[in-house]
Amino acid sequence: MRTKIVAGNWKMNQNLTEAQILTLDIIANLNAQTPTRVIVAPPYTNLYVVAQLAQNTKLEVAAQNMHQASSGAFTGEISADMIKSTGVNVVILGHSERREYFGEDDAWLAQKVDAALKENLEIIFCFGEKLDERKAAKHFEVVKNQLQKALFHLKPEQWKSIILAYEPVWAIGTGETATPEQAQEMHQFIRETLATQYDQNLADKVSILYGGSVKPDNALEIFAKPDVDGGLIGGASLKAGSFLAIVNAA
Ligand code: PGA
Repeated sequence: MRTKIVAGNWKMNQNLTEAQILTLDIIANLNAQTPTRVIVAPPYTNLYVVAQLAQNTKLEVAAQNMHQASSGAFTGEISADMIKSTGVNVVILGHSERREYFGEDDAWLAQKVDAALKENLEIIFCFGEKLDERKAAKHFEVVKNQLQKALFHLKPEQWKSIILAYEPVWAIGTGETATPEQAQEMHQFIRETLATQYDQNLADKVSILYGGSVKPDNALEIFAKPDVDGGLIGGASLKAGSFLAIVNAA
């Protein structure tokens, strides 16, 4: 049985005070016995403080991005080692907003993946097709290509540090969700692709999250699908109540 994971991507929201309030609210209402892994990804400026608050609790913390170099003249960027030094052990890579607005592509992401793994960071790797690609029935091909270019150079043992997050771009922040059937269909395809590239045993162990307008009222149905192992939550992760309702659905 794969562990369910619910991760909240706060994106560019929450100043320091707001982040502390939200984190304390989540911790206070989080069932310490829940078998689900619960992760929040605050902006960089809040990482250390949120990680401190989350220490010895059920809550885990992730960064939203990182640069592939270990240090140097890269104004505005941060490294894997810097993330680790704040007490954070997880990083999101490949989010569609990074791809769309900041020019990140799969070749670049492959370098970031290697740099993160070198520092023993666990990775939530995001990928997914755009609306025109789905309309042209290219979604399976697009997703396979993204995985191939960014992740299939990895050795089997490195996959224990990879969490996949399928996020169809047309469903992110739009209020439009993939149906549970569409999510299951793609997640099953992803697992089959992993089984072909590696083996069934590896494919069965990798957690595949769904992301894109997951809300308390649709989470249960989506998470009930056999190949959906939880979710990456944007908008609904900014309030403790809705985030925890989604955690409970998992
Ligand atoms: P959303 O964002 O839940 O607001 O659609 C999901 C994401 O971008 O990870």
